[in-house]
Amino acid sequence: MASGESSTHSLLSLLKPIPELATEEFHLFQTLVLRESGIHLGEKNRAMLVSRLWKRLRELKLHSFSSYYRRVKSDPQELVCMLDCICTNETHFFREPVTFEYLRTRIFPEWLAEADANKRRRKLRIWSAACSTGEEPFSLAMALLTYFPAAAGWDIEILGTDLSTKVLANASAGVWPAERLSDVPAEYQRKFLLRGFGQEQGKIKATDELRSIIRFQRLNLTEEPYGVGGSFDLIFCRNVLIYFQWETKIKVVDALGRYLAPNGYLFLGHAEGLHSVADKLQNVAPKVLRSPRASMSRHSPLSILQRRNREEKI
Ligand SMILES: C[S@@+](CC[C@H](N)C(=O)[O-])C[C@H]1O[C@@H](n2cnc3c(N)ncnc32)[C@H](O)[C@@H]1O
Repeated sequence: MASGESSTHSLLSLLKPIPELATEEFHLFQTLVLRESGIHLGEKNRAMLVSRLWKRLRELKLHSFSSYYRRVKSDPQELVCMLDCICTNETHFFREPVTFEYLRTRIFPEWLAEADANKRRRKLRIWSAACSTGEEPFSLAMALLTYFPAAAGWDIEILGTDLSTKVLANASAGVWPAERLSDVPAEYQRKFLLRGFGQEQGKIKATDELRSIIRFQRLNLTEEPYGVGGSFDLIFCRNVLIYFQWETKIKVVDALGRYLAPNGYLFLGHAEGLHSVADKLQNVAPKVLRSPRASMSRHSPLSILQRRNREEKI
């Protein structure tokens, strides 16, 4: 097709009316998305689903949501693409600053004192579960490298995981629009972020030092066991549980608890409406949970659900 024809074609496809998403079709997608990601799409999310999938339908030149559903069911690659479309990826550097303040003033000094007293190794394993485009693990990396420098013998390993392959590609590149810089303290900007020029004007890039301590991997929080290789001193699981139903939230928090090292910390997002969900974890600050000093015994997530059912009956 000549380029003139192709632009006319894309203009026409833009002008096409959006096909209707029938209630039965909505329920099919709702069930599929819930099963594959734990994300609960309520009636209020219907318009969002239509607009996000419609974009994909146009790319694939499909004319109805039913044909797209059949495509997703028969093509595992398209299922991954659909989940990429569904996921809400909003994030920014040093989101919920009090969290980072808590790390800097309470947890980091505690780890340092323990290492100085030979009560812990100078190795830290951190997990940003649901890391989106990487701002969260990179914020952690900047704070950690500043407080625990390699020159003082510290070895820091950060894992960033997400369900969406699209955001993981962004995160691994470690490149963002320069507007994001305003969320980063000046000291960290100078040390860890490079400003693009020429063709890269308007972008910022993480330094190699920063990128070298972070590894990214696709991981669905609703599918255990998690292949993350051992336990973590700190897990961030923020602003993702809000998309899950109550039972799923409990299972995920409970599962994450089993991946905490003794005395490890789990941070949840401030909007996460969770009360007393963690069985063996202690609430040490708002949305901050800590595992016991001794290793946690593996326990079934059902035990918490059963206990909640019992509590509700009382
Ligand atoms: C709103 S972002 C939060 C990013 C970051 N944690 C923050 O607080 O800024 C939510 C992320 O959760 C991811 N997500 C949704 N369902 C998931 C699942 N079942 N397993 C892993 N990640 C999931 C989405 O792809 C999205 O990147």
